[in-house]
Amino acid sequence: MGANRGHGGSVLFNFTQSVKRLIYQELLMLKELVRHPRDIGAISPSSGALAAEMASALSASLVESGTFIELGAGTGPVTKALLGRGVKPGSLLVFEKSEILAGCLSKRFPDVRVLCRGAEEMGRHVDDKSPVRAIISSLPFRSLPADVSGAIMSEIAKVLAPGGFYVQFTYALMGEMPFVPAGFIKVRSRFVLLNIPPAKVEVFRKPEAMDRAEGVEAD
Ligand SMILES: C[S@@+](CC[C@H](N)C(=O)[O-])C[C@H]1O[C@@H](n2cnc3c(N)ncnc32)[C@H](O)[C@@H]1O
Repeated sequence: MGANRGHGGSVLFNFTQSVKRLIYQELLMLKELVRHPRDIGAISPSSGALAAEMASALSASLVESGTFIELGAGTGPVTKALLGRGVKPGSLLVFEKSEILAGCLSKRFPDVRVLCRGAEEMGRHVDDKSPVRAIISSLPFRSLPADVSGAIMSEIAKVLAPGGFYVQFTYALMGEMPFVPAGFIKVRSRFVLLNIPPAKVEVFRKPEAMDRAEGVEAD
């Protein structure tokens, strides 16, 4: 009986802590949204369902080796899902431009390398010896300046290893997403209704031979 009450008490304690954490993360995002509306581009952190859909693009064999890059991690829902999917903390590199959010991520995931840098600088920070298997992005391309989005597309094309995956979500449920590096092939598109607002997760693959895929003959 006493043991049961103890267990119930700890369940309630954990639940309360989770609710407090979610409220704190929501408030942090809102505060950043007010300060930098174009950079944040969302009213709340991604739901667990959206984060899980993003992470599910990575297979168990893919996560065994190489580097994984997350862009615009915010308070970390997708980071958590990627680690839950089997990505090793030491192989995950996160780019989060907001100083406040990068600080929150470093505290929440002390073993993950969090860089408070723009994704447009990606190429400068990757290790050539460890191929980048996937880039998982929550960046709000629709609200970012066109030159920044363009620069990030070039970096994604350059940094990702041949055959690697680019995962991006969008709130635009209809039509084709324009923010894809030239030559990349769409492999999956799924709706996630359990998110505010509902979203679509798209997965693209960089061809093994990039120049052929773009219709240019290799030397
Ligand atoms: C829509 S929020 C996504 C947050 C989180 N991934 C989620 O799913 O809740 C977009 C995030 O991208 C970050 N961001 C915006 N521009 C960026 C850039 N150029 N490089 C890196 N991060 C950027 C913002 O600070 C913000 O945290």
